[in-house]
Amino acid sequence: MNSTIRIGVIGLGIGSGHAQRFAALPGCEVVAIADTNPVRLEERGEKISGAARYTDPMKMLREVALDAVVVATPNKFHAPLTLAALRKNCHVFCEKPMAMNVAQAQAMKTAAVNARRRLMINFSYRFMPMSVALKRQVDAGVVGHIYFGRTVWHRQRGMPGFGGWFGNKELAGGGPLIDLGVHRIDLALWLMGHPEPVSIMGSTYNKIAGRIAREQNKHFSVEDLAGGLVKFRNGATLIVEASWALNIGEPEHMMTTLYGDKGSITQRNVGGGYQFQAELLTEENGCLFHKTLANPNFTVPSAYEEFIAAIRENREPSAGADDGIRVQKILDGLYRSAAKGREVRFR
Ligand SMILES: NC(=O)c1ccc[n+]([C@@H]2O[C@H](COP(=O)([O-])OP(=O)(O)OC[C@H]3O[C@@H](n4cnc5c(N)ncnc54)[C@H](O)[C@@H]3O)[C@@H](O)[C@H]2O)c1
Repeated sequence: MNSTIRIGVIGLGIGSGHAQRFAALPGCEVVAIADTNPVRLEERGEKISGAARYTDPMKMLREVALDAVVVATPNKFHAPLTLAALRKNCHVFCEKPMAMNVAQAQAMKTAAVNARRRLMINFSYRFMPMSVALKRQVDAGVVGHIYFGRTVWHRQRGMPGFGGWFGNKELAGGGPLIDLGVHRIDLALWLMGHPEPVSIMGSTYNKIAGRIAREQNKHFSVEDLAGGLVKFRNGATLIVEASWALNIGEPEHMMTTLYGDKGSITQRNVGGGYQFQAELLTEENGCLFHKTLANPNFTVPSAYEEFIAAIRENREPSAGADDGIRVQKILDGLYRSAAKGREVRFR
């Protein structure tokens, strides 16, 4: 596909940033935007010149000839809007989480395969140069077989849009696990080479955010902390933790550490914010060396560039539908295990 790729963007929270990033790519044009909130549509639309504006995304899909659609709405609408866009033969760049549950995610994949269109999930953290630098170490065998790991995103107090859709189970499907945990789970699975999960034991809590919501008379029907232990067919174990409200010492704590039989890798935030560092520990000649990655001297394609390249090259993108389903399986499994109070096994 060499011609201009005509893009429509649905949902103008983070989606307005996506629209600007796609519009800046060569051979891409954002020709339409949709948001059910007319005020937001007006405000954000000012930054996306020339795009037709719709308060009804279905009307946009009916009226505008599009090659690709960005879905960046509350989680509940990811599956129905992706399916609607695929029915119009559009490629889809869908925000994380892929869907509310595995059944929806699988239906999205089937629709993409049948339509012969690309479906990518915005697992943006794997597109950081530092993540790629760590992946190169794993792929080169530097850390050996990864058999244990921990992947974490905790916030001291950080409920997004407190009282809004993120904390509403009906619209979000879950709390910090489905919101933040997805990124850390995807990063860990991708670095581990996507081993097959066989079982999970999980717990969810709502000890802090629920209390604050009651005090402030706000709606909050999801967990504020989720944790679980995933076992894989290759013998590996991964601990997953995600919270929006936890009594920790820093505002934000993100870390993925994977231990192999020859070394380990870690990606973590520093200073409680969104600056990251990557570390490698290896055993050489009987000595343990602990190295920190200097600024990577290479660039990697952004998620936006990867999506467009996959369309033009007619190939599966990185973070495609299968990877979305893999993450969704762990989310569903952890929530199911927490609800049942026992381990659940994957079929
Ligand atoms: N990849 C990332 O790092 C990242 C970061 C932030 C958000 N997200 C994801 O992006 C999605 C949106 O999050 P956000 O922070 O932008 O939320 P938001 O609430 O700021 O924005 C969502 C927008 O969607 C609009 N909307 C709601 N229902 C709609 C519908 N049916 N059709 C069209 N528009 C609709 C709302 O009016 C709102 O303007 C979520 O799934 C979230 O998990 C991903």
